[in-house]
Amino acid sequence: MKAMVLKSFGGPDSFELCDVPKPQPLAGQVLVRVHATSINPLDYQVRRGDYPDLVPLPAITGHDVSGVVEEVGPGVTSFSPGDEVWYTPQIFDGPGSYAEYHVAAESIIGKKPASLSHLEAASLTLVGGTVWEALTARAALRVGESILIHGGAGGVGHVAIQLAKAVGAKVFTTVRDANFEFVRRLGADVVIDYKSQDYVDVISRETDGRGVDVVFDTIGGDTLSRSPDALAQLGRVVSIVDIAHPQNLIQAWGKNASYHFVFTRQNRGKLDELSTLVERGQMRPHVGAVYSLADIPLAHARLESHHNGLQGKIAIAVGSRHVS
Ligand SMILES: NC(=O)c1ccc[n+]([C@@H]2O[C@H](COP(=O)([O-])OP(=O)(O)OC[C@H]3O[C@@H](n4cnc5c(N)ncnc54)[C@H](OP(=O)(O)O)[C@@H]3O)[C@@H](O)[C@H]2O)c1
Repeated sequence: MKAMVLKSFGGPDSFELCDVPKPQPLAGQVLVRVHATSINPLDYQVRRGDYPDLVPLPAITGHDVSGVVEEVGPGVTSFSPGDEVWYTPQIFDGPGSYAEYHVAAESIIGKKPASLSHLEAASLTLVGGTVWEALTARAALRVGESILIHGGAGGVGHVAIQLAKAVGAKVFTTVRDANFEFVRRLGADVVIDYKSQDYVDVISRETDGRGVDVVFDTIGGDTLSRSPDALAQLGRVVSIVDIAHPQNLIQAWGKNASYHFVFTRQNRGKLDELSTLVERGQMRPHVGAVYSLADIPLAHARLESHHNGLQGKIAIAVGSRHVS
C-alpha cells in the first residue's frame, strides 16, 4: 500500500511517499481502507520533532480516519466488511492515518454518519472528540450559560461553536475580521476581532461586568493567563494547549475558577454522540481545503503558515489526486 512516511524530524519535505506492507488485523482489530484523513496542528508538531521520544522513526503519522472496513480480526462483533467507519487512531501508539489502510482496535471505531462525506467525517474525529471532551465532559456547559471560544474559525473552534450552540449556550468567539461571517453562520452570538479588539473589554461590556461561565482556550500563553479576566465567578477554563511557561493564577483564585486540561482520548461513545448531532443537523465540519496523500507536505506547510486563509479543516483525499 502507499503511505506517507516521516523519515526524519524537520520541515514538510521530511515525508516520503512509500510502498509499505498492508497491515493485518489481529484479534479485536479492524482493517480499514482509508478514504480520507485530515491535518491537525499535532501533525506538524510531531513532524518538526516536538515529541521525539514518543514517535520512533520512520513513522506513519496522522490522526483522523474515515473509510470502509475491509476485514475484521477474530472476535470482532461490531463491524463487518463494507461498513463505513470513522475514528482517531491511538495517539503515540502505532501507525497513523497517512496511508491507504489502517488497523485499529474495534473499541475506538465508530460508524460514520451517513450524511457526511469521507472528507467531512475525517475532518471531525479528532477535533470533535476534543471539543466533546472539553465542553461536555470537563466544562459541563449547560443551557443558558455563556462561553468564550478562542480561534472560532479554526479546526477546533468552528466545531466548538456548533457544539456550544447545540447545548444552548451563548457563544462569544475571537477571530480575524475576514472570518466574522463564517462564524456567525455557525451560530456565534458575539464575534470579536482579536487583531483590533481586546476580548476582555468586549466581554465585560456585553455581560455588564459579569464575565462568561466558560473560557475555551485553543491558543495558550497569554490567552490562558488572561482567561480569569473574562470569567464569571465560579467559572471554568478548559485549555487544550500545552503550557510552555509558568502561569500566575492569582486572578483565577479571585474568581473561584476551575481549570481543566484536555489531551484528546479515543472512544466510540464520543463519536456516537457527535454522530447524533450531525444527523440532527446541529453539527457539520467545514472542509476549507482538500489535498491528496502525495501532497501532504503542501497541506502541512499551509496549516503551519497560520495566516493561510483557511476556515475549518484541511482534509486529505487518500487515493485521489490533489483537488484544490
Ligand atoms: N489537547 C488536544 O487534545 C488538542 C486537540 C486538537 C487541537 N489542539 C491544539 O489546539 C490548537 C488549535 O487547533 P486547531 O486544529 O483549531 O488549529 P487551526 O485549525 O490552525 O486553528 C487555529 C485558529 O486560531 C486562530 N488564531 C490564531 N491566533 C489567535 C489569537 N491570538 N486569538 C484568536 N484566534 C487566533 C487562527 O486564525 P488566523 O487565521 O487568524 O491565524 C485559526 O483560525 C492547536 O495548538 C492544537 O495543537 C489540542
